[in-house]
Amino acid sequence: MCGIVGIIGGSDVAPRLIEGLKRLEYRGYDSGGIAALANGGIERRRAKGKIIELETRVREDPVRGAIGIGHTRWATHGVPNEANAHPHANDRVAVVHNGIIENFQVLRRDLLDDGHVFASDTDTEVVVHLISQEIAEGVEPIEATRRALTRLEGAFALGILLRDREDVLIAARQGSPLAIGHGDGEMYLGSDALALAPMTRRITYLEDGDWALLTRDGATIRDLDGRDVERPEHLTGLSGAMIGKGGHRHFMAKEIFEQPQVIGDTLNAMFNPANRTITLPDLPFDLATVPRIVMVACGTASLAGMVGKYWMERLAGVPVEWDVASEFRYRAPMMADGGLAVFISQSGETADTLAALRYCKEHGQHCLAVVNAPESTIAREAHSVLPTLAGPEIGVASTKAFTTQLVVLACLTIALGRARGTLGRAEEARLCTALSEVPSRAAEVLHHAERIRAIAQETVAPARDVLFLGRGTSYPLALEGALKLKEISYIHAEGYAAGEMKHGPIALIDENFPVVVIAPSDGAFDKTASNLQEVVARGGRGIVLTDPEGVARLGALTPDVIALPAVDPFVAPILHAIPLQLLAYHTAVEKGTDVDQPRNLAKAVTVE
Ligand code: G6P
Repeated sequence: MCGIVGIIGGSDVAPRLIEGLKRLEYRGYDSGGIAALANGGIERRRAKGKIIELETRVREDPVRGAIGIGHTRWATHGVPNEANAHPHANDRVAVVHNGIIENFQVLRRDLLDDGHVFASDTDTEVVVHLISQEIAEGVEPIEATRRALTRLEGAFALGILLRDREDVLIAARQGSPLAIGHGDGEMYLGSDALALAPMTRRITYLEDGDWALLTRDGATIRDLDGRDVERPEHLTGLSGAMIGKGGHRHFMAKEIFEQPQVIGDTLNAMFNPANRTITLPDLPFDLATVPRIVMVACGTASLAGMVGKYWMERLAGVPVEWDVASEFRYRAPMMADGGLAVFISQSGETADTLAALRYCKEHGQHCLAVVNAPESTIAREAHSVLPTLAGPEIGVASTKAFTTQLVVLACLTIALGRARGTLGRAEEARLCTALSEVPSRAAEVLHHAERIRAIAQETVAPARDVLFLGRGTSYPLALEGALKLKEISYIHAEGYAAGEMKHGPIALIDENFPVVVIAPSDGAFDKTASNLQEVVARGGRGIVLTDPEGVARLGALTPDVIALPAVDPFVAPILHAIPLQLLAYHTAVEKGTDVDQPRNLAKAVTVE
């Protein structure tokens, strides 16, 4: 949440700051701003709304200056308006911030008592006043900044500009990600390497407790006691090219249609077609003896983990505990000695998932990350990594990251089953064959896009509420279908275990209440079909995702049946995710919402 960029360079920085902010817009987009040092003072422009609004503002009223900072905001404290947009500044100091300063109320009260006047409702503004107060008391500006930093509690990544130090840009990290970029006679600051990729591929990641002084020639990184610390320089693999929509109207559509390719890429890194086996990278623990697994993530990634739980328990006979990270980390969970903890994250920066990982590390778990961003904090801090090769995902609602997470978890399940002796050679080969067919089957599923669009327009878009039902691995899919729909179309949706429908949601069913039923013809089909009967009997409109056998078994129960390719039930959740994404997408397009940047959401949730 919130993106930060900074440049200390040889020429005007404003255009490049704005370019960097556009690449960070996935982190939040309710307002933007830049500040630069020019003519002995701080020049600042801010605008409510997306970065394009800021760009227009800066075009009308340009900002000069060869050192500057920029910010794209996801509001935590204070409504999204121009006054609350970053940078926050007075005549001496300008600050951009990602995170939450948890003790800001105490600090603000003290500062108000000392006569400081606040111009915003944000937690961030206290940083401006703390530094200014030290400077006003005669402390040299960099030492004043260090002293202010020691007073902050909570999570922050900060970029700080000091009026009297045109030769230094200051960065600080505690909890929220921040990267330094190394240029030629220039240095950069960014929330991630993607923002800096057009300027440099040489990246140093700050660690918690670090603060850094960037000059045009390099960076000095220190801890808060002022001791120098060494952080390695990496060469990022990220491209500086702006990622396009590939002819699609939205990034989300492009990402849905990329799935056959990226599912194949992810699978090929682990699947050996010659002998139909799965080979994982070397892991620093023994899959055969892991006593227990905990599976932790947030949002869509957590639902991939829930599918993984069903798979691993059934096929590898290992107990799996599943939880969302924000609950897991605060509930004193029981963990077995030498247990395995799996963390799933597209961004690799989600604050709760990262905190849960650190908690599990402290409690002696082997920490395995399934991440899409290989240079992210979660990837760096985990003991081992199984990457999803989905490529950059720009649409805020996760699509291809989800299906590639499922592919990795399916491979991990097979490897676990083999190691523990629950899957024999023939069974492994059968599951591997099913997995190897997923890319081409996914391409077939995409052929249903037009039919799904029609259902979205006629049945889902006019609804106020939608229910999603499934059993077994289709249950997490029902949760994901509901999540996707509410995220981007703003229609209230609930996912439910089909068998639980009678214990509540059945009371809501009437002719205006579409019920999406995920029913591959697996062992649970007949029971789910009975639930569908109960919906139809009450005038509800069933929309069914099944396969040709399911179509035959349903008969003429409901007109809205989508026959997906017949596949082994093991891989059905990977394929069934795709029509759910398309249903949400086409509903959102029909409703005219902002599909790629839905209101209030952000792609990387770096605050609790
Ligand atoms: C946000 C995004 C979701 C994502 C979740 C977890 O809510 O909007 O699409 O599933 O965060 O993010 P992660 O990067 O950890 O997968």
